[in-house]
Amino acid sequence: MTHPLFDLSGRVALVSGAAQGMGRAMAIGFAEVGADLMLADINAEGVQDTAATIEKLGRRAIPVVCDVTNVDQVRAMFARLDRELGRIDVLGNVAGPGVLASPEEIALEQMEKVVHGLVVARFCCCQEAGRRMLAKGKGSIINIGSIAGVTGLGRSNFAYSVGMGAVVQMTRELSTEWSGRGVRVNAILPAQVMNPGLAARMQADPNLEANFLRGIPIGRLGQPGDIKGLAIFLASDASDWITGALIPMDGGNLAMNAGGTAGKRKG
Ligand SMILES: NC(=O)c1ccc[n+]([C@@H]2O[C@H](COP(=O)([O-])OP(=O)(O)OC[C@H]3O[C@@H](n4cnc5c(N)ncnc54)[C@H](O)[C@@H]3O)[C@@H](O)[C@H]2O)c1
Repeated sequence: MTHPLFDLSGRVALVSGAAQGMGRAMAIGFAEVGADLMLADINAEGVQDTAATIEKLGRRAIPVVCDVTNVDQVRAMFARLDRELGRIDVLGNVAGPGVLASPEEIALEQMEKVVHGLVVARFCCCQEAGRRMLAKGKGSIINIGSIAGVTGLGRSNFAYSVGMGAVVQMTRELSTEWSGRGVRVNAILPAQVMNPGLAARMQADPNLEANFLRGIPIGRLGQPGDIKGLAIFLASDASDWITGALIPMDGGNLAMNAGGTAGKRKG
């Protein structure tokens, strides 16, 4: 039995990056507590699979092939949402670009692409959702940031880190502007969460996983499903007085000083 504060019945959520990973887990979590969904991704097959999984739960899910770094496609998706679902209560702003290139070598075009995708285009999703939510006087926007938005990572994460820093500040500013009119804006800051890209990097560099784990006192990397509970909490009335918050989902990474030593782990 779930507590009614976490119930999203009758509400509509739009989640980007919904074909796999944290976007898929978040979307399925919202459906499990009653929401209908619009699902955006560039992976047509994957987003359809997520929609099929959600429909088996008895909820409505509309898969949309949308590159969220393209503002025309984002606006067209919101127009479709108006036509087919008629409302938006929750935005899960999950998909976003990244690139690995050192600051001394990165091409400015690459830098622009990441900053456009993470800052301008992601803001476009916030603006489209925010306008609709403000008109109704209620809504919850959840931006996926990163520990890279509040600490430096090195390892050529430069452009991504700069973009995520802006996502953090976007969250604070939008919360400050909009929460008095009913629209809460929060960010989740994950540390390393398993996905195919990370798995490939860990395979190429046998020291990388141990390096990550030294910074994660809980003693394991994240899994996409780790986002479900927190996302449901932020989407629902359970978090009604929580806005502008930057919530780490990081196994204790941000709490530990880089020179610190994690305590004994179980096992
Ligand atoms: N995994 C991590 O360690 C980690 C940590 C912090 C932040 N993040 C951020 O969280 C988000 C999701 O990470 P994940 O691990 O779930 O990723 P993932 O690679 O498992 O899934 C990303 C999904 O987004 C889709 N996508 C990529 N670019 C898109 C675009 N332009 N438009 C629409 N869809 C697009 C992909 O097709 C895929 O389905 C990313 O923004 C990432 O930067 C990830």
